[in-house]
Amino acid sequence: MKENHLLQIRRIMESAVREAAELILQAHGILAETKTGKRDVVTEYDRRVQETLIALLSDAVPGAHFFCEEMDEQDRLDEKQVFIIDPIDGTMNFVHGLKHSCISVAYMEEGEVRVGMIYNPYTDELFSAIAGGGAECNGKAIHVTDTGLADSIVCFGTAPYQPALTDRTFSLARKLFDAGLDLRREGAAALDLCTVAAGRAGLFFELQLSFWDYAAGQLIVKEAGGVCTSPDGVPLSQDGSKCGVVAGSPAAVKDYFSL
Ligand code: IPD
Ligand code: CA
Ligand code: CA
Repeated sequence: MKENHLLQIRRIMESAVREAAELILQAHGILAETKTGKRDVVTEYDRRVQETLIALLSDAVPGAHFFCEEMDEQDRLDEKQVFIIDPIDGTMNFVHGLKHSCISVAYMEEGEVRVGMIYNPYTDELFSAIAGGGAECNGKAIHVTDTGLADSIVCFGTAPYQPALTDRTFSLARKLFDAGLDLRREGAAALDLCTVAAGRAGLFFELQLSFWDYAAGQLIVKEAGGVCTSPDGVPLSQDGSKCGVVAGSPAAVKDYFSL
C-alpha cells in the first residue's frame, strides 16, 4: 500500500532535521552577530542549519516553498507546499553554551499546518504531530497535563526583542507566579510548547512570537490535547505575522482567562 502522504512528509522531515542537527552538536567557536539589537543574535550555524534543511527538503519535495527565519525574503505562505523553519530556536542559549535549543520545522499544505516537528539534539527528543493524528515524542504518544494553573509549572518567554512588552510580560508573569506553582524561562519558545504538550508544564505564554517560533509547536500542543491561542483569545495568526501565544492544558488556559 502507498504510504500515507503526510507520514511520508514526516519521514522526510525527520531525516532532514536529524542530519542538520549534527551541525548544532558539532558546533565550535560560535560567534554571535547581532540583528535588530543586542538580544537578537544569529550565528553561522543558524544559516548552515537552514541551508542544509532547505537543500534536503527541496530534494525530497521538489517544488516546495520555504518560510524561514534567516532568509532575506520568505516565500509566500499561500503556495501549495511550504516548510516553515526556525533553524535554531534558542540561539541565545546556543551562543552561551546553555544546551537548550532546537530545530523547528512545520509543513503547511494549502494554508494549513499539517505536520509539526521539533528536535532537541542535546536530549535527542524528537517531538512531532500530524494534523488529526495525535502528538508524540520519540514514538510515544504525549498528552498535556489535566491539571489547572494552581498545580502547574508555568513557562514563559520575555519577548526579548520588544521592549514595549516588557512591563506587561513581567506583570503577567507575577500574576501567574502567584496563581501557579513556579515559573520557568528556558529560552526556546518551540521547546516551551513541547514542554506543555508533554504535560511537563501546564501553561506557556509569550506576548510576541514569530510564525517560525510557533508554527510546528501549535500543532504539537493541539494534537496533545492542549489549547494554543493568542493572549486575548483570538486564534493564532497563520499568515506569517507576529503574535502573542498562550498554550496549555484546557484547564490551565481556562484559569489563565479568568485571572
Ligand atoms: C527566540 C526564543 C526565545 C523567545 C524569543 C524567540 P530565536 O527565538 O524562542 O525563547 O523568547 O521570542 O524569538 O531567536 O532563538 O530563534
Ligand atoms: Ca525562534
Ligand atoms: Ca532562530
